Amino acid sequence: MSVHKEVKRVTTHVLQEMKHRGEKISMLTAYDYSMASIVDQSGMDIILVGDSASNVMAGHETTLPITLDQMIYHAASVIRAVNRALVVVDLPFGTYQGDSKEALRSAVRIMKEAEAHAVKLEGGREIKDSIDRILSAGIPVMGHLGLTPQSIYKFGTYTVRAKGEDEAEILIEDAKILEEAGCFALILEKVPAELAAKVAKEVTIPVIGIGAGGNIDGQVLVVHDMLGITQEFSPRFLRRYHNLYEEMRGAFKNYISDVKSGDFPNEKEQY
Ligand code: KIV
Repeated sequence: MSVHKEVKRVTTHVLQEMKHRGEKISMLTAYDYSMASIVDQSGMDIILVGDSASNVMAGHETTLPITLDQMIYHAASVIRAVNRALVVVDLPFGTYQGDSKEALRSAVRIMKEAEAHAVKLEGGREIKDSIDRILSAGIPVMGHLGLTPQSIYKFGTYTVRAKGEDEAEILIEDAKILEEAGCFALILEKVPAELAAKVAKEVTIPVIGIGAGGNIDGQVLVVHDMLGITQEFSPRFLRRYHNLYEEMRGAFKNYISDVKSGDFPNEKEQY
């Protein structure tokens, strides 16, 4: 008899059930095999291959430069590591806005070449045609409203979004448009907690926040930020669970010192 226990995979249906029973959804980013393996084995519900890879992996100032080929490379590496979590992949800037056929081609490439489980697109009514076409091909779509970093040059700042009544009303309408279109979940980034709670109450799909308060269905962070690998990025919403920057730098310094002194390798560390 096999003692191997089947891992119950997280699906869009499982996430819907979690919302119904009030169980919070955990989500983190990952961009490579080794990190994704640790994140998945920790029991994370969703892994996002975010276009924040453009910042934390490639060192760009914004998320705009990352390409579809680069996102597919990151996503395929993550997928090879994951046994349990639902893996969602960002469609990068310029691969889905304005042309729904191109949006479908981009999403299909991510699903086929990386074997991802779902895609995420930034925006509301203005990208509805793209969302409709992707969904019609049977590809699950996660929405993303509020602060949408791919539109940073339109807004000019990374400050909190939808603070005014008009913008809040538009955001609520957009959330309902995405729900009705068939998105399986929604990210709300950097919006007032009260507004996010209202959205989570008014839509039936899970609402996952980053800088959107605690009265919603789940939370997402960028893994390098929560581990304290990135140092310069310190928004109020970020809780650092580690100071890996200092720990790693300390380890590197010890290695340099051991190499320079001749302490490494010792007799047991050679053939
Ligand atoms: O790209 C990303 O990491 C994201 C999260 C901030 C939600 O979209």
